[in-house]
Amino acid sequence: MLSARQYHMQTAYFRERMVPHTLDWENQPAVFKRYANLRAIQLPRVPAVFSLPLSELTARDHRGVVARSILRERMASILGLSCSLTARAHHAGNDFYYRSVASAGALFPNEIYLVQGQASDLTAGICHYAVDRQCLYALRPGSFGAYVRGAVHGLGGREPAAALLISAIFFRSAWKYRERAYRYVLLDGGHLLQNILLSIKALSLPLESTYDFDDFTANTLVGLDGRREALLACVAIPAAEESETRDAPPIGPLAEDVQAASRVARVEVAYEKIERIHKAGTAVRPVTGAAAMQERMGLSVKAWRSFDRSRPLADEGTYPEVLFRRRSRRNYVRRALPYARFERLLDMLWTARGVDDPAGRENQKLLCIGFLGADIEDVAPGIYLLDDAQRRFGMLTAGNFAKRMATVCLNQEWLAQAAVHFIFLTDLKQLDETFGARGYRYAMLSAGRFGQMIYLACTALGLGACGIGAFYDSEARQLIGLHADSALLYLVAAGSVKRL
Ligand SMILES: Cc1cc2nc3c(=O)[nH]c(=O)nc-3n(C[C@H](O)[C@H](O)[C@H](O)COP(=O)(O)O)c2cc1C
Repeated sequence: MLSARQYHMQTAYFRERMVPHTLDWENQPAVFKRYANLRAIQLPRVPAVFSLPLSELTARDHRGVVARSILRERMASILGLSCSLTARAHHAGNDFYYRSVASAGALFPNEIYLVQGQASDLTAGICHYAVDRQCLYALRPGSFGAYVRGAVHGLGGREPAAALLISAIFFRSAWKYRERAYRYVLLDGGHLLQNILLSIKALSLPLESTYDFDDFTANTLVGLDGRREALLACVAIPAAEESETRDAPPIGPLAEDVQAASRVARVEVAYEKIERIHKAGTAVRPVTGAAAMQERMGLSVKAWRSFDRSRPLADEGTYPEVLFRRRSRRNYVRRALPYARFERLLDMLWTARGVDDPAGRENQKLLCIGFLGADIEDVAPGIYLLDDAQRRFGMLTAGNFAKRMATVCLNQEWLAQAAVHFIFLTDLKQLDETFGARGYRYAMLSAGRFGQMIYLACTALGLGACGIGAFYDSEARQLIGLHADSALLYLVAAGSVKRL
């Protein structure tokens, strides 16, 4: 078993100790999961009908949204907006597809499963969502809401109308990143989770997201072994009415060929540290009253500056447009980021705290969010923290650190041109002490959620963004001024780019 701190420290990159790793292209993992003998349920092609600007969607208060039945079309929209193929490239004789979510190394380790209840024109059952075919593969027919109610924490003892479960196939990312890959599958999972939450919000359906469930029952339900592929997060859509409690059919193991679909490469290497940290995180520890991570990290800000919910900018994109246009951008130009845009970006990031869903509410206990401001109009260069409880930010250290941070990020020099680097920090020891090893899942998934929000907000505002998971860990810690137990988990660069 490993603690969060041990895993993170043991998978650190050191400048003088980088071991070259040649990718085995003959054994490249498949990015689409395939089942040999399962029935496909085609979903209707749903036009992207929302003309809502992204910032209006994110700002909308979602509390008290009334449950409605989840018709086939609505579920097709939720899935299509959560994860779609958005662009095609041609590499080494093969087509390659980009998606509406970012993913480290474009390895796309995450999958989506659906537990659909009775009250719908979709057949009740458990399905896998095939993103490339926009269809569902039926894994188990029947009503399994009672299992979700039993296994997933925080649903108030009610069966949801539907639940979307996010998994990770570890080898997809470990093929490239080896033991460090657990970081990426969690961050990527958070990116996907944020898209799912926004899509459900766009459809004005209520939601409850959580990282807490009984791993064994939930994995068995969708036919995963919990080692090669395992569930990471759940978004439940509460039912309009209390459903009558039925006896759920027993859940035995699924057929061997169904389980074998988690195998994505001819030769799969099992990475010991990934297995150990994931297994260590099996226990869910009830937590009440932990203080915000920012306070616990002992970082002190002298003066805070408030930011307002700024007025919409005339050229903001609509939510579906933004989703389908989102890409990673590295062509930054030295142009000051206008303060009005920066404020809008902060505001949209702020809304991703998810005060209206349970997993989101824990964010401030898990993460401390800050930014390295390099070239923001009317904001002196420096390292800043964002205050999660109030709309404000404050300086930790004065100076322009973008160039140094670019070097820390494995010499990705283009980062030096970005106007701002958002940073996601935590104290790993405190995370372990409060949440146990599962806290690592929480913190990384949450950081990924914010990362996706930054990408989308930047796309809406005509800016570029790029997530960065590759950095020399101790150099990053020193640059930001963190103590030995604290760490940078993720960085997302943002700013003006040559062209979008
Ligand atoms: C967790 C995470 C880490 C990433 N790390 C890096 C990085 O270190 N350097 C980089 O250039 N891109 C990085 N990216 C961007 C991915 O390479 C990019 O999302 C992927 O190639 C898909 O392309 P797209 O975002 O344009 O759709 C990262 C993305 C994520 C989500």
